[in-house]
Amino acid sequence: MCGIVGIIGKQPVAPLLVDSLKRLEYRGYDSAGVATLKEGQLDRRRAEGKLVNLETELTRHPLDGKVGIGHTRWATHGAPTQQNAHPHFCEGVAVVHNGIIENFAEIRDQLTARGAQFTTETDTEVVAQLLASLIRNGKTPREAMQATLGLIKGAYALAVLFDGEEGQIMGARNGPPLAVGHGEGEMFLGSDAIALSPFTDEITYLEDGDWAVIDRNGVEIFDTSGNVVERPRSKASTAYAQVEKGNHRHFMEKEIYEQPEVVSHTLAHYVDFTAGKVRNIAPDLNFSAIDSIKIAACGTAFYAGQIGKYWLERYARLPVEIDVASEFRYREMPLPGNQAALFVSQSGETADTLASLRYCKEHGLKIGAIVNVRESTIAREADVVFPTLAGPEIGVASTKAFTCQLATFAALAIAAGRARGTLIADEEANMVRALSEAPRIASSVLNTIQPQLENLSRELSRYRNVLYLGRGTNYTLAMEGALKLKEISYIHAEGYAAGELKHGPIALIDENMPVIVIAPYDRHYEKTMSNMQEVAARGGRIIFVTDENGAAAATLDTMATITLPNVDELMMPLIFTLPIQLIAYHTAVFMGTDVDQPRNLAKSVTVE
Ligand code: AGP
Repeated sequence: MCGIVGIIGKQPVAPLLVDSLKRLEYRGYDSAGVATLKEGQLDRRRAEGKLVNLETELTRHPLDGKVGIGHTRWATHGAPTQQNAHPHFCEGVAVVHNGIIENFAEIRDQLTARGAQFTTETDTEVVAQLLASLIRNGKTPREAMQATLGLIKGAYALAVLFDGEEGQIMGARNGPPLAVGHGEGEMFLGSDAIALSPFTDEITYLEDGDWAVIDRNGVEIFDTSGNVVERPRSKASTAYAQVEKGNHRHFMEKEIYEQPEVVSHTLAHYVDFTAGKVRNIAPDLNFSAIDSIKIAACGTAFYAGQIGKYWLERYARLPVEIDVASEFRYREMPLPGNQAALFVSQSGETADTLASLRYCKEHGLKIGAIVNVRESTIAREADVVFPTLAGPEIGVASTKAFTCQLATFAALAIAAGRARGTLIADEEANMVRALSEAPRIASSVLNTIQPQLENLSRELSRYRNVLYLGRGTNYTLAMEGALKLKEISYIHAEGYAAGELKHGPIALIDENMPVIVIAPYDRHYEKTMSNMQEVAARGGRIIFVTDENGAAAATLDTMATITLPNVDELMMPLIFTLPIQLIAYHTAVFMGTDVDQPRNLAKSVTVE
């Protein structure tokens, strides 16, 4: 998706806008641009590609002005060219937009019929054209803004400048997040608190339907009818201000190695290790009173939910139905009242997941959310929030958020088992003890397997297709591993249930298809070993991810065997995901792709 920012400053704002856009580049990076007002006149600079290209443009052609807006783009309508880059201008109006104007074609036709000249392929340009036409017909900027918002449909976070309105920025939100930042004689507007963290941590979040007029002294917020509304002002987490790579090459590498620490923080939030039990974490989500749980999420968060399903069903005997959020609400499944719904999201802004949450809320379900950004929309709309304490995750590929989601699900499953009487105190104490080992074992694994994985990844980068196999929670890890590899190395990868191999995928097996098999020495081991024999018999090259017992019991040659410590079953996904993440990371490094900002992707998908 896109990142937007606005500043009413005390100094030339172009460099500040770019600094803020750097903190939003993870949301989209096809092109970027800034516009400023100087002595009432609008001017802009735009560049295709990464933000560094805009910086070069600004060096060549500096931009003055103490009021401005900026944008970093993930293209939805119109190729990622300079011509389609935001800000979009029309007769003294400048607009930046995150989202999709769903009725843009109809508005474009109407305006074109009235003589409007469109210059881009984007949906966003209709906003600038509408505002300009309304002002041309005598409306004030405020009247034009309110009228325009009544005409456009879809998802939008907008920042708008008007010629002649030197000390003013207007903003509007319907779907994608938009935050107002409060300074001393300065004011800010941005897609999230990260964007504003260099300037302020005093934040007001706009709600859906809100629009705002911001000047140097503050902000006025209105609802769709033009009535003034009050929104709370809060302090954003200061964690965002210190988001740097440190001595790592990429944010993803840093975030992989942060996992022992942040998983430990997350577990400590939910588990009283001294007492040997999970804290009373879900008083508002009474597990003993619900018959089942729905889970909806996207991508890696969905895979965390799948593992959560295994644990909730296995340890709490609580039936769980899970689906990817983009499918969930269109199934129109029965939603009797004695159910709860759980939504998993790192950003807390994923449009499909938010839409599924709202669908369940409309049906009267109790809503829980496992989120990493506490101030996010999903967190604010849930009845119960289960925070993951991963800290800001900047790499587009989700790693530490995933393991913190797993840690949260492990605690929830134990709490649910205790509430439903399916776990006795001794069992809970044993599971808590196992979890308490996870950070130490994860740290040990990360510090020992790197050299082997780098060599393996160098070889893996020669292939164009990879198959991942697993059973139980390792089937889910197989799918997560395939997602990690394809999204950052662009190698096609597929995760499959090992038991499904002979029902089709085995046709793919030859020496050009490496097969990564995730199989610790557990109740699935023997059957998975048979699957590996089937692969080896057809010339397939196997990368075997197992534990010490599994390596000792193995009876066939492999391309590589990655041996992890023997760990408790509950902890296994937290540990076995580590080599999966590092294989994807190092392979992408060898492929020379942009690991933190892979092509075509964005960190937070705020359109459906
Ligand atoms: C994960 O590596 C991907 N970047 C993507 O699948 C992500 O997990 C998905 O978009 C969900 O994002 P969320 O957790 O912020 O909702």
